[in-house]
Amino acid sequence: MLKNLWYVILPAAQLTDALRPVRLLGQPFVAFRDSSGKARLLSDVCVHRGGSLSAGAKVGDSVQCPYHGWRFDGDGRCVEIPAQPTLRIPAKARVDAYPTQERYGWIWAFLGDLPEAERPPLPTLDWLENPDVRVVSGHFDWQANWERVIENGLDFAHAPFVHGNTFGDPAQPQIDAFDVASDDWQGQARMLMKRPRRSGLLRRKSATERISVVTLPGYHLSGPCTTLELQLPNGWRIYIVAAHVPVDAHHTRTWWLMGRTFLRSRWLDRRFVASNLKIFREDHAVLKNVRPERVPDSWQQEVSLKSDALQIALRQRVRELERQGWQIDEARLARDFNGRKACAIPCPERRQSSAWAIEPIPLVDVTAEG
Ligand code: FES
Ligand SMILES: [Fe+2]
Repeated sequence: MLKNLWYVILPAAQLTDALRPVRLLGQPFVAFRDSSGKARLLSDVCVHRGGSLSAGAKVGDSVQCPYHGWRFDGDGRCVEIPAQPTLRIPAKARVDAYPTQERYGWIWAFLGDLPEAERPPLPTLDWLENPDVRVVSGHFDWQANWERVIENGLDFAHAPFVHGNTFGDPAQPQIDAFDVASDDWQGQARMLMKRPRRSGLLRRKSATERISVVTLPGYHLSGPCTTLELQLPNGWRIYIVAAHVPVDAHHTRTWWLMGRTFLRSRWLDRRFVASNLKIFREDHAVLKNVRPERVPDSWQQEVSLKSDALQIALRQRVRELERQGWQIDEARLARDFNGRKACAIPCPERRQSSAWAIEPIPLVDVTAEG
């Protein structure tokens, strides 16, 4: 799991002024909207005696810890200590607070300590700003590591086997050569897939007739997600973005949006939602059993082919970020922070001051690797 990326915390419509617990990167957070409507995200661990802030109360624009009533504002600073009202509040009396942005109907939080100018850009998803695209949304929970889930979303060789009854075609399992275009934060491939013809796309597919669908799978890593655009010969388009958020090392929550330029009646929304969830369920049946649970450290421990090129482009970039020191050290986390010590993903404010009670989450020491 990586710090210093943008992660979807909730759909914007689900965040109100009430306190909402969220688990991301194995850590507890509390989210809420302040009176100006701005989304706030704080570490959920009170620095006094470890109370869970999300179980407390919202008082004005602050969060009151349920244990001794300390109040923390939206920037994470303690603003009241009820037991000692005349005391000057200690500098260390604060919790990490994270930058947020609202875009595409989602609230994204930057879980890291980079100053604003160094943060990667949010993914750009133009179709979500096109009023002619009808959009449905949902979420899916995986018992699988986020990197396995995101690689699965870039993998088209599995469709005939895992999705043979839905969008895969067992009679056409071959993947023609394709190129990958990638830069620092995104990658995309373009391939031509032969698909069984369907009437209206929702009806039964034909056993003999096939159409060519221009298929553009891709990823954004700055806010880890996979994207897919399908261009049908009659001009119809389908778009999907799936933001894959690590709940912890073994669980991933996917927030997804699916757009279509045809059959835009809202009465059909449920069928599009159901078809997308069916595909995720088919993927999950395989993904929950892959071994090792995480992508291996070494390329030598798997056999990769040209048809895996998009996943490889992503994996290389993830490895680069790990070498930059952004990788959470899960082994040390389990060993040293187990029941005796809390930690937090460091927020940008930690670069301004060293007065923090709770330790930053351990990161894989890149200097130790040869
Ligand atoms: S533990 Fe939060 S106020 Fe004491
Ligand atoms: Fe799949």
